[in-house]
Amino acid sequence: MDRIRIIGGQKLNGVIPVSGAKNAALPLMIASLLTRETLTLDNVPRLNDVGLLIRILTNHGVDHMIAGKRPGDRPIAGQTIDFNAKNIVDTTAPYELVSRMRASFWVLAPIVARMGEAKVSLPGGCAIGTRPVDYLLMAMERLGAKIEIENGYAVATAPKGLRGGEITFPKVTVGGTHTALMGAATAHGSTLIRNAACEPEVRDLADCLNKMGAKIRGAGTPEIEIEGVGSLHGARHTVLPDRIEAGTYAMCAAMAGGDVLLDGVDAGLLQAGLDAIESAGAKVTSERDGVRITRNGSGLAPVDVTTAPFPGFPTDLQAQFMALMTRADGVSRITETIFENRFMHVQELARLGAHIRLDGETAIVDGVKALKGAPVMATDLRASVSLVIAALAAEGETTVRRVYHLDRGFEQLEQKLRACGAQVERISEGG
Ligand code: EPZ
Repeated sequence: MDRIRIIGGQKLNGVIPVSGAKNAALPLMIASLLTRETLTLDNVPRLNDVGLLIRILTNHGVDHMIAGKRPGDRPIAGQTIDFNAKNIVDTTAPYELVSRMRASFWVLAPIVARMGEAKVSLPGGCAIGTRPVDYLLMAMERLGAKIEIENGYAVATAPKGLRGGEITFPKVTVGGTHTALMGAATAHGSTLIRNAACEPEVRDLADCLNKMGAKIRGAGTPEIEIEGVGSLHGARHTVLPDRIEAGTYAMCAAMAGGDVLLDGVDAGLLQAGLDAIESAGAKVTSERDGVRITRNGSGLAPVDVTTAPFPGFPTDLQAQFMALMTRADGVSRITETIFENRFMHVQELARLGAHIRLDGETAIVDGVKALKGAPVMATDLRASVSLVIAALAAEGETTVRRVYHLDRGFEQLEQKLRACGAQVERISEGG
């Protein structure tokens, strides 16, 4: 198992290219199940989660072809992948695969839409909370599917096809909204989704579905209308930039100091995160090619944040911001409202010398003058990168174990940081 070794104390200066968004790429890949024709996705990040979803889709009969690198491509350019689901050969998504990546549960909607039935393993709990799928199943029922839970599987049937309906989510859910969009796109009749997630990844999925012939209006707002169409056709779509990756590197730069251009991201995708970084004392400038983060000399001020659905402060940046606040000059309060158990990084940050106390859903962070390097362990994707951020400012050496969590969602992390002057290297076991 690989480890990442970081020697703290270097400023970051340079350009970091922002990859395609993992959380947009996954539902877009799943949308390929909705058509017999080819869906071509550009800017797909090279991530373990993408590889795993390709395996899952292959299991259902989806063919894929990865295009080779072309001359003139950016040094870290995303991949172009063709997906073709001409024949869905298996409507079951087994436990062994779904339990490794929760988002694969989302295959349920397109498989029922195409085949009239699907049997998908319930994903189970995960490191950040219980994460039920009741709203996703409710959405499918509202679209006319019959749902039964059998031996740990959700079995959905709609022999006469799905039909439009009204879906009101009791709580904003990204996966629920993706499911409703994919189920409703080819249903008979119209669908109205209320309290829909407004995350940019939802809009990206709707844009792609519209290119495939769907009729979706209002994606990116809490009310989405879908007029069902008979079938969808092939299309070509570019995965939107990863706002969470960009926000993470923004926090790396704010933590280490220096001057970093996040190439290819639009500030509007991560305004709440950038506002918090700016309040903490870094300078944030929107430029033609991306967003520039600068901090030279000034200290870090404490800032309180509360996670919320988009456009609020993203839960997927909570751990990273907490790492930043461990070096602030004073006390900050970080409240997590989306997932009940997303504080696994607190104990590991404490190993680096951070002072953090938990009070229910709030972490109270008392900034320290210095962090000190130590061996630490990654517990989930975003928690693991928060340890990298802390390590960039810690005195001496930090090793992060279990980096397979990082590889699920950060493309070429060491290379991107090293290109800006960080001392970061990957050590393979035995190395
Ligand atoms: C997506 O997960 C993201 N995953 C998560 O990113 C992200 O943290 C989350 O949205 C919130 O922004 C992907 O896009 C692949 P939800 P999702 O349904 O869709 C509750 C990362 O690190 N809920 O919006 O699974 C749920 O428990 C990952 O990249 C129900 O109660 O999240 C949570 O409290 C982690 N019942 C809230 O809703 C349901 O049926 C929001 O979850 C569904 C959700």
